[in-house]
Amino acid sequence: MYVVSVINYKGGVGKTTMTANLGAELANRGMKVLLIDLDPQASLTFSFYEPDDWRDRLRDERTVKRWYDGLRGDDPAASLGELVVTPGPANAHLKGAGRLDLIASHLQLVDIDLALARGVADGDEYDAELFRVRGSLAEGLHDATLDPYDLVLIDCPPNFNVVTQSAIIASDHLLIPAKADYLSTLGIDYLHGNVRELVDRYNADSRRFARIRRHHKVAPGIAGVVFTMIQLMAQRPIAAHQGYMDQVRALGVPVFPTALRENVTLFAANTPRGVPVVLRDRITNPAVRDELRQITTEFLAHLQPEGAVA
Ligand SMILES: Nc1ncnc2c1ncn2[C@@H]1O[C@H](COP(=O)(O)OP(=O)(O)OP(=O)(O)O)[C@@H](O)[C@H]1O
Ligand SMILES: [Mg+2]
Repeated sequence: MYVVSVINYKGGVGKTTMTANLGAELANRGMKVLLIDLDPQASLTFSFYEPDDWRDRLRDERTVKRWYDGLRGDDPAASLGELVVTPGPANAHLKGAGRLDLIASHLQLVDIDLALARGVADGDEYDAELFRVRGSLAEGLHDATLDPYDLVLIDCPPNFNVVTQSAIIASDHLLIPAKADYLSTLGIDYLHGNVRELVDRYNADSRRFARIRRHHKVAPGIAGVVFTMIQLMAQRPIAAHQGYMDQVRALGVPVFPTALRENVTLFAANTPRGVPVVLRDRITNPAVRDELRQITTEFLAHLQPEGAVA
């Protein structure tokens, strides 16, 4: 099982859109995919479930909030496996034996985040608690009921708080959607540095607090930056976008060869409800779907350099 976090501090760069479509396309190719929505905005959740449906069927029992509540000891702990749901419309569109499941988010996940970060005293006790929480998602994913999944894709919120950190620590790879603009390119370098610092700190803590958790070194790699919302002119990115794409390549961070073009019409509407663009049969601009499929192929090639899965 691979665990991949989709991450960027910057908001609105297409993380959630990429998570939903990548997950959907991989499931359509026969993989068993589990999506985890770690963003209290719950955009990924609401791209598969109507808000009313979420409130009636998921809010109280089936969201990732229960997992993080369990860490604080407020409520009896739920295992991650107990929280999984299967979005109907998306799965009805899958061709083969693949599967697209979800652990939904909760609008109050933000409160937990703040409480976790400040809920313990300074010093050793604080460091130990932070270490425990940072490693908690990795530990939760070692749940036998999750063994059948080939891939876990985690949609992170646009920040670097402790819930996001737990996703990074749980990950084998990080995927970074980005827009090709000035602020996004600054952010990528910064993100890269902060991930490295977090991982070094976690691995050092792992030796220091070996009594809490068996030591195992984490080393998430950068799967790459995937550019989104690119404007094209004569089938090529406009010069302003191309310039920033080149700058990011020059940072030495891997960049996906294929970028996703901007298409407000296709992505603004969640119709038909709950079915990501890549799975829809009739769309106004099939080139968008082709790009999503191509990005998926490039992503798979990164996970499995031998190309074991088609
Ligand atoms: N290629 C695209 N072309 C046009 N609009 C897009 C594209 N990709 C995503 N969008 C739209 O841009 C908005 C932001 O996308 P999305 O929610 O995926 O970003 P995000 O990085 O997850 O945001 P946040 O940081 O708030 O979680 C959404 O309204 C989405 O529909
Ligand atoms: Mg999002």
